[in-house]
Amino acid sequence: MALKATNPTTTNAWSKLQSHFETLKSKHLKELFIEDQNRAKDLTVKWEDFYADFSKNRITKETVELLTQLANEVDLKDAISKYFNGEVINETEGRAVAHTALRAPKNTEVFVEGVNIIPGIHDVKEKIKNFTAQVVGGVHKGFSGKTIIDVVNIGIGGSDLGPAMVVDALQFYKNHLNTHFVSNVDGDHYNEIIKKLNPETTLFVIVSKTFTTQETLSNANSIRSWFLQSQPKEAVSKHFVAVSTNIESVKAFGIDEANIFPMKDWVGGRFSLWSAVGLSISLALGYDHFSKLLEGAHKMDEHFRTADFNENIPVISALLTIWYNNFFASESEAVIPYTQYLNQFATYLQQGIMESNGKSIDRAGHKVNYQTGTLIWGEPGTNSQHAFFQLIHQGTKLIPTDFIGFIESLHGNKDHHDKLMSNYFAQTEALMNGKTNTEVLTELKAQKASQKEIEALVPFKVFEGNKPTTSLLVKKLTPESLGKLIAMYEHKIFVQGIVWNIYSYDQFGVELGKQLAKSILDELNDDKKSSNHDSSTQNLVEFYKKNC
Ligand code: F6P
Repeated sequence: MALKATNPTTTNAWSKLQSHFETLKSKHLKELFIEDQNRAKDLTVKWEDFYADFSKNRITKETVELLTQLANEVDLKDAISKYFNGEVINETEGRAVAHTALRAPKNTEVFVEGVNIIPGIHDVKEKIKNFTAQVVGGVHKGFSGKTIIDVVNIGIGGSDLGPAMVVDALQFYKNHLNTHFVSNVDGDHYNEIIKKLNPETTLFVIVSKTFTTQETLSNANSIRSWFLQSQPKEAVSKHFVAVSTNIESVKAFGIDEANIFPMKDWVGGRFSLWSAVGLSISLALGYDHFSKLLEGAHKMDEHFRTADFNENIPVISALLTIWYNNFFASESEAVIPYTQYLNQFATYLQQGIMESNGKSIDRAGHKVNYQTGTLIWGEPGTNSQHAFFQLIHQGTKLIPTDFIGFIESLHGNKDHHDKLMSNYFAQTEALMNGKTNTEVLTELKAQKASQKEIEALVPFKVFEGNKPTTSLLVKKLTPESLGKLIAMYEHKIFVQGIVWNIYSYDQFGVELGKQLAKSILDELNDDKKSSNHDSSTQNLVEFYKKNC
C-alpha cells in the first residue's frame, strides 16, 4: 500500500484537539485578538505575491501546533513525497497522481512505473505550442481557406470546468479567438452555441480523457453532423481535434492521429487543465500565458512541498477545514472571490473538492466514523453580499469562508476597486466582530427610535460575530497568480484526503447514476412499459413517455 492508513481519530493529536476544542469553542474571536496582540502577524503567511491571513479563524497558535502534530502523526510528509514522486497513490484505480509533473521544469525527473514522464509531457507541450501559434497566427486555416475565429471546447467535468474557468478568469489576457464551451448533454446547450457559429471558421476541440463519456460523445457526434450538413467529409481534419488517452476511439470517431493531443491516465480529470486538456486555454490566451499559468502552479508546488507545515498555505488551509468540519461540526465552506473574473471559481472547485473528498470508506476499506468532505459553494463579492451573506452573518450555521482579493484591478479603475476592496475588508471584520446589544441600542437611539421600537428591534439587529474567515490577498490576477491559486486548492484537497484517510483520486460515486441512466434511456426509446423501478420512478418515466 503506497499511502499509510491511519484513522485520524486514533492519534494523540486528535484527543488533544478534542480537549483544546472544549476550551476554545465558546471563545469569541474578539477575545482571542485581545489575548494575543501578535496574532494577526503570527497567523499570517506571506509568500511571493500571496498574503494569507488566517488570524480571523477560531484558532490560536496552539491549535496550529496541534493540527500540524496531527499532520505529522498521519505522516503527511511521506504522503507528499509519494504524491510528487509518481507513486501509485490512487490505489483504487491503480494509478499515480502526477498532475504536478505537468508543470515541472524540463530538467526534472518524475518516474511513473519506472518511466520518466517529463520528456513525454514536454513533447505534448511543444505540440500545443505549435498548434496554438498556427491557429492564433491564422496559419492553420479552415478547409475553405478561411481563418479560424471561433474555438469550441466539447467536454464535461474536468474536461470542461478547468479550461472554462481559466479562460473566463483570464479573459483580460485573451486574444482575438472567441472561445465557447459545450458540456451538457442537454441538446439546447450545443444548439444555442452553434447557432452563432460559421462552420468554415470554427475549430472544435473534443476533450475526453476516456472518450467514452456519453455527454461529450453525443455533443461531438451531433456537432459533427451539423458541420457535415454544409461541409465535405474531408473538411473534418481541419476543424476537429481531440484530447484523450483513448487514441483508438478518437481515430474511430474520424479524427486524424496528427490532430490528437494525448494525455495519460496518471492525470485525474479534475486536475487535468495543466495537460493537453488545457489546449483551449492555450488557444484562447496564447501559449505563453498558458505556460505562465503552469509556472505559477509549479511555484505553489514547491512552496507546498518544502515549506514547514505551520508556514504552508495549502497545509494550514486544509487543516482548518478539518478543524471546522470535525470539531465544530461545520458542514460547508464558502469561497468568495472579490473579482468578477473568478465568477466560475467556486463551481470549478466543487468538482475538485467534492468529487475528491466526498468519500466514506477509509484507506483500510472500512466505513469512516467521522465526517469527511465539505460542501463548497460561493459567488463573487460584492454580488454574493446581496444574495446569501445574510445567512453567513445571522444564520444558525457556521460557514468558514475564504475571501480572495487582489491588490490591483486589471483595468485600473481605482475608484471601483477601492469600493470593491472596502467591502472585502469590511465583510471579514463584520463577520468577526458582529454587533453587540449595546452597539445596536446606541445606534437606534441615535436614529431617534422610540423605546417601544428599540425593545422590539434589538434582538433582530444583533450580530453575534465570531464567524471565521481566511483572507487571501494577492497582488494581481495574472496567469501566474491564478496558477498558484488553483494549485493551492489542489494541495488543500490532497492534505484533507490524507488526514481523513480516504482515497481522493477515484470517483466511483458518479458511476451508479450513469449506469441507471443508460438502462432508462433504452426504456425511453422502447415502446414497452418501463419496469424494475420503484413506483415513483416508474410513474415519472411513464408520465414523461406519455407526454413527450
Ligand atoms: O463525472 C465523472 C468524470 O469521470 C469526471 O471525473 C471527469 O472529469 C468527467 O467525468 C469527464 O470524463 P472524460 O474526460 O473521460 O470525458
